Amino acid sequence: MKIEERSLVINIDNLPNCDTMDAKDLVNRDRSSIWTKHCYGEDLSIRVAGREGGYHSSPHIHDSEQLNFCADGEMWIYVENDGYHLRKGDLMRVPRNMVHWAWNRSDKPCVLYESHAPGNIGAPRVRDTAGPLFRANEPLPTGRYPMVSWLSTEYAEKVEKGNRPSVEGGLVAHFDEVKDSSHAIVSEGNGFRSRFVYGLDSSFLVATQDRGCRIRPHLHGCEQLMHLISGELWVFFPDEAYHLHKGDFMRVPRLTPHWSWNSGAKPCELFEAHAPLLDPSEAEHGKALLTGDEAAIPLKAARTFWSPRNLVERESELMRRSSNSA
Ligand SMILES: [Fe+2]
Ligand SMILES: [Fe+2]
Repeated sequence: MKIEERSLVINIDNLPNCDTMDAKDLVNRDRSSIWTKHCYGEDLSIRVAGREGGYHSSPHIHDSEQLNFCADGEMWIYVENDGYHLRKGDLMRVPRNMVHWAWNRSDKPCVLYESHAPGNIGAPRVRDTAGPLFRANEPLPTGRYPMVSWLSTEYAEKVEKGNRPSVEGGLVAHFDEVKDSSHAIVSEGNGFRSRFVYGLDSSFLVATQDRGCRIRPHLHGCEQLMHLISGELWVFFPDEAYHLHKGDFMRVPRLTPHWSWNSGAKPCELFEAHAPLLDPSEAEHGKALLTGDEAAIPLKAARTFWSPRNLVERESELMRRSSNSA
């Protein structure tokens, strides 16, 4: 099924299941046990993926940086010779062009939230099932997106035979190792708390925004893709308003002034990814997911800038005109 409709917002229920893999890309499994829903912008793609117990992908590489959040269950992710055991709440990065694969060694399903920068939609059959987060009158990007290259299973066999314990630190951060940050530049008070991690090309946060909390108008030189996990949230641009509901994906284009307000009765939860990465110095407790060799590489981060505060005075008018306020 091809996505016909174009908008900056698409709900997960309106996306087809994406065959990111053929059966031949799985080790000892058919593909009936996996599902993926994903969307893309200019510089990023984000996905929500379900992986049943026993799921085991083949080794592969792609020229995209991958950030993962284990939202439920558990998963081993292998990068070259190292295995990382992710449990609920853990965050991890796979650097560009490194051999990696995943294995759910439990008998329970795992849910992963992921981002890829650039977007991991190189194969036409994958791109055709991804939601394009672009306005109807906005041209779709014409650049090439990286392909996934599937590799011999011998990479996995060799490492898994070693059955070594999970590697700690570096590319992985367990739930209790990432403290809440309050993004000083955009939030006031403690109404917005996020676990913020970053790599060389992108950043990723899992956040809670309290009822009534407003993120002040700002812009940044990076694209922002977001997914509302629960609750509801209004996102405003100077001339548009979008009322997000559970399951919505949304794109905020680079350098677009935007702000948000949780008008719901309870806190909302969301995850967001940015490429290039948001400036880590703006997040109090952000955590780098870098190898020892990468730690010395200067980061090309995007700063956040304040937009005029009085933009919020437009909210009521924008909400009245909003096309998706239902
Ligand atoms: Fe991957
Ligand atoms: Fe933002």
